[in-house]
Amino acid sequence: MAQKLTLQRVFGLILLAFSIFASVASGLATSFASVPPTVSNGSSIMVTTSSQGAFDGPKLSIVNSTSFEWWYFDIASEEASVQIVFFTSTVSAIGHPESSVPLVTYVTINGLFPNGTAFGYVVPSMSVYIATDGDGSSGFFDGFGSWKGTPDMSHYTITVDAEAIGVKGALYFQSAAPAHYPFNFAAERTDSTEVLAPNFGWANAVPDSDAQAHLSIGGTKLHIVGRGYHDKNWGDAPMQDTTKTWYWGHAKVGPYAIVWFDYIARDGQEYYSAYLTKNGVPVSLGSSMTVRPYGRNETQTLYPPNASSTQPDGFIINIDAGYAGKFEFSASNDDVVQAIDVYTRWTGQVIGGPVGGEQFYGPGVGLWEWMRFI
Ligand SMILES: *[C@@H]1O[C@H](CO)[C@@H](O)[C@H](O)[C@H]1NC(C)=O
Ligand SMILES: *[C@@H]1O[C@H](CO)[C@@H](O)[C@H](O)[C@H]1NC(C)=O
Ligand SMILES: *[C@@H]1O[C@H](CO)[C@@H](O)[C@H](O)[C@H]1NC(C)=O
Ligand SMILES: *[C@@H]1O[C@H](CO)[C@@H](O)[C@H](O)[C@H]1NC(C)=O
Ligand SMILES: *[C@@H]1O[C@H](CO)[C@@H](O)[C@H](O)[C@H]1NC(C)=O
Repeated sequence: MAQKLTLQRVFGLILLAFSIFASVASGLATSFASVPPTVSNGSSIMVTTSSQGAFDGPKLSIVNSTSFEWWYFDIASEEASVQIVFFTSTVSAIGHPESSVPLVTYVTINGLFPNGTAFGYVVPSMSVYIATDGDGSSGFFDGFGSWKGTPDMSHYTITVDAEAIGVKGALYFQSAAPAHYPFNFAAERTDSTEVLAPNFGWANAVPDSDAQAHLSIGGTKLHIVGRGYHDKNWGDAPMQDTTKTWYWGHAKVGPYAIVWFDYIARDGQEYYSAYLTKNGVPVSLGSSMTVRPYGRNETQTLYPPNASSTQPDGFIINIDAGYAGKFEFSASNDDVVQAIDVYTRWTGQVIGGPVGGEQFYGPGVGLWEWMRFI
């Protein structure tokens, strides 16, 4: 086993070294860093503007006990879904109960089989390397696998070979919508803020993509052809201290790709970012938006949500895109893909379009969540 991990690690390093060599040869900016598996002492300085480095690169100077960072990927279809998150964070800084994870470097994989049964695993990694090449990033998490993005973030591949949990396979993402920060497209190349709310950063490298997952999970094959998504979040204070609740999600509805993030800070202030493209072309970003829960019971529709809130039946997303008009989408909570005390994630049908204009009813698929520290 130890021998095997060592070989896997050496192989990963050779691949990373090769990709860096290739991009140095082509003149692109690169970086390469190992992340210690245990907490570092000192100040964790976080990236706040786009001038500070690669779009999808590491955003913390160190991982101290009160800072957090992750690279998130998901693929959803009408039949099944999978989410993989590569963390460099203490579990306490994200207020999550997987508190038995002893390291700051670990990966979670969750999803739903087509028959509706959920699966979920956590894999701690003793050695972790993160590289950037242009705006894209790559990461190697010993004992789980790796991700690799191209310099322009148009393609991402995740390779999984996690013997300890019996999961193997690969995921492929071919981007179909432009990358963005909370309020600016990546292509604007301005000194864009990367901060959605105080102490909370967000960079969405792949808002929508044609995606496939080919996995073997405990001997069961899982093949998904659907929509894929990749982003990253980070922060320099414990999430539960700065965040009260958020609604986040993404979906493809007819020609529209949408990403919503409606966030309420501990002090009650609301921050939001709405992303809307049509056939891969920007319609609007960051403009005025509301995401509100719906359901028959009063407790399902409380806004802002509080400790009396129950799980809604879905969410209504309203986007005021200024000159481009008003849009309304409805996301129906058909399948729970993950539910723990601080969040619920769903997949389901998403319908909608321009208010008073052509409405799209399908295939409409997405994945979304309600995070809460209430
Ligand atoms: C960090 O600080 C703690 C508590 O003071 C100490 O036990 C630990 O050895 C330090 N770690 C490092 C890597 O310096
Ligand atoms: C981690 O870094 C942040 C940002 O500099 C700082 O506010 C916080 O106090 C640090 N945490 C610890 C435990 O040192
Ligand atoms: C669904 O499929 C998974 C994977 O094959 C299996 O482990 C599980 O028992 C199935 N669940 C039901 C309810 O059939
Ligand atoms: C939640 O908000 C509702 C409506 O304002 C209120 O009636 C209820 O008492 C609140 N529950 C808690 C636990 O604060
Ligand atoms: C709706 O309200 C009833 C009565 O208060 C409660 O029993 C039920 O659990 C609630 N359902 C949801 C989904 O909130």
